[in-house]
Amino acid sequence: MRIGILTGGGDCPGLNAVIRVIVRRGGVKYGWDILGIREGWRGLMGEPKIQPLELKDVGGILRIGGTILKTSRTNPFKEEDGPTDVIENIKKLQIDALVAIGGEDTLGVAEKLVHKGVKLIGVPKTIDNDLSGTDLTFGFDTAVNIAMEAIDRVHTTAESHNRILVVEVMGRHTGWIALYAGVSGGADAILIPERPVDIDKICKVITKRHQRGKTFSVVVVAEGAKISFDKTEDTDGSLVVQEMGVDQFGHVRLGGIGILLADELEKRTGFESRAVILGHIQRGGSPTAFDRMLATRYGSKAVDLIHEGQFGRMVALRGNEVISVPLAEAVYQTKKVDNELINMAEDLFG
Ligand code: F6P
Repeated sequence: MRIGILTGGGDCPGLNAVIRVIVRRGGVKYGWDILGIREGWRGLMGEPKIQPLELKDVGGILRIGGTILKTSRTNPFKEEDGPTDVIENIKKLQIDALVAIGGEDTLGVAEKLVHKGVKLIGVPKTIDNDLSGTDLTFGFDTAVNIAMEAIDRVHTTAESHNRILVVEVMGRHTGWIALYAGVSGGADAILIPERPVDIDKICKVITKRHQRGKTFSVVVVAEGAKISFDKTEDTDGSLVVQEMGVDQFGHVRLGGIGILLADELEKRTGFESRAVILGHIQRGGSPTAFDRMLATRYGSKAVDLIHEGQFGRMVALRGNEVISVPLAEAVYQTKKVDNELINMAEDLFG
């Protein structure tokens, strides 16, 4: 039996832990041939980019961030004859089953390929934690801890200078990272896409805080947050983007709202403000113990599913149990932060 593994979309800490357990359990225990496919779906288009994986290739990778297989945001369904190319390469390489490790984009492609007869298992990763069908994706816990540490650190400099410090975090169109890091870091306001907000409301929160004697504030903003800066406009505020173009999955490149927010807060409250954009720091480096464990459990479950011949499924966390769900369940909608958590966070503002 030959198993192909690929990692697609944005990298995140924990990808190597999945690769490692598949090689160790699938390769060593079941005697399967494990073939790494390089650069995500791109590695199965045109001349295949492959890398056989043996025990010696996965030694010491558990603690390393990124992916030893490299990744890309290539969408075969956006290329002429892309899906046919992928399927022909799978046949040519004599791959019996494929493990696709990715977020909504990579797994969206996987789900379409399942309908074309490809035997496939999905493993959910993304720092954004926005995939349906699973309570958590690996990579999220590491990103939250990095963001929380940054929030802890900016507290002292904000306080020393009597400033407002705005920390912009990733998360695309959801506020999971912002909310978890913001609450754990004791932020004074947290702005996320799920709850569009008027700038005046945030100014009031900060002014009230300063009236009770505080001389600084820390505000966390998700890159996809919608803030209305102008009362005359009848909108929830628009997305701040770095580039107008979209990638092969239709995504704009978000980023920059933190700077805009810091400028507006300074103008409207009179308190000196600065912005910090965490960016890719949240995605780099070593995974936390939680993410190493979750990624290992996911990879191990993927091996079980292949062994049992159950394809077209994604491994998932429900409570503390690793289960599997149909791939379709993972990709049909973006998982948003629930209202209960947002309300709890709002009660802690100021
Ligand atoms: O999906 C993960 C993520 O880090 C998002 O939070 C962010 O918007 C995006 O990827 C950035 O993508 P890129 O690495 O292509 O700039």
